[in-house]
Amino acid sequence: MKPVEMPTEMRCVEISEHGAPEVLTEVTRAVPVAGHGEILIEVAYAGVNRPDALQRAGAYNPPPGASDLPGLECSGRVAAIGPGVTDWDVGDAVCALLPGGGYAEYVTCPAEHALPVPAGLDLQSAACLPETCFTVWSTMVMRGGLQAGERFLVHGGSSGIGTTAIQIATALGARVFTTAGSPEKCAVCEELGATAINYKTGDFVDVLKAEGGANLVLDMVGGDYIARNIKAMANDARLVFIAFLGGPKAEINFAQVMVKRLTITGATLRPQSDAAKAEIARQLRANVWPMINSGKLRVIHDSSFPMAEAAKAHERMETSQHIGKIVLEVAGG
Ligand SMILES: NC(=O)c1ccc[n+]([C@@H]2O[C@H](COP(=O)([O-])OP(=O)(O)OC[C@H]3O[C@@H](n4cnc5c(N)ncnc54)[C@H](OP(=O)(O)O)[C@@H]3O)[C@@H](O)[C@H]2O)c1
Repeated sequence: MKPVEMPTEMRCVEISEHGAPEVLTEVTRAVPVAGHGEILIEVAYAGVNRPDALQRAGAYNPPPGASDLPGLECSGRVAAIGPGVTDWDVGDAVCALLPGGGYAEYVTCPAEHALPVPAGLDLQSAACLPETCFTVWSTMVMRGGLQAGERFLVHGGSSGIGTTAIQIATALGARVFTTAGSPEKCAVCEELGATAINYKTGDFVDVLKAEGGANLVLDMVGGDYIARNIKAMANDARLVFIAFLGGPKAEINFAQVMVKRLTITGATLRPQSDAAKAEIARQLRANVWPMINSGKLRVIHDSSFPMAEAAKAHERMETSQHIGKIVLEVAGG
């Protein structure tokens, strides 16, 4: 293939200082260079995730060595390959988990953290996959051990994470229960296969107890949900924390943990090793990409914003108006 002429500068969005969405500023920076084992991606779309908003506000710093630019996932085409990369060619359509830097025209990442754009999916939908699929698979299946036939409770069912978790768990044969904050959000969750509980009018503890208790809970809320999760859990159940939107502290009765033989754990994806993320990518390719190909896992796309309007995308996310995924259009495609 004829070598592609690479620009030396690119447009990107940086966090000019910690604060409200307006601190997201479009600037020009040097195009990064793919190092050993890395690919350079010409970004078409970048997914917007709640951790980006936390980073912008100063509550979630990038791990050492990661770009300071926000953006944990993207889709696009491979623009260059670094030394030692054999799996990808220039021009391949990929979506990738990023350590940061997705709000940009070009980004590098370890080649093993990229996945092919699933057949039949456009680049906009593909940008919605990596961060949620990596997070959900690694916490719900690899850490939480979800099994067919189990009762699975995921909070925030209409979020990017929630819509993905509902569908993957349903495809794995679990019975899925979820919480969401409006009748419209509950309807979408039901349509994806969950029993949805409007947490503003109902109590998930009552619903789960009546069913025999949750075998696995995936919680992004924390706060007063921590004690209530424990009440809603069956014997030998697992609770996996992925965020604390309602706060990380609670008073709980540990006797219930002992008597019901519960396991309480949690994880964040971003600081994990490259090798750990590569293993998650391998498992996604083997287990989740076929679900996309067969239509069992659909992308729930909420809205797209031009990259220059990243602040509007963050505002929409932080006011919880969205259902599913928000993306930034960088170059389109
Ligand atoms: N651990 C990790 O590695 C990791 C990775 C990615 C994301 N995360 C976390 O996972 C969460 C979801 O991420 P996302 O990008 O999908 O963000 P998102 O779409 O903004 O999801 C947040 C969701 O929380 C719901 N929510 C807020 N308070 C709630 C409550 N009391 N009960 C039930 N639901 C409630 C909101 O919906 P309502 O309008 O219904 O309240 C919203 O759907 C975020 O907190 C993010 O930081 C963690």
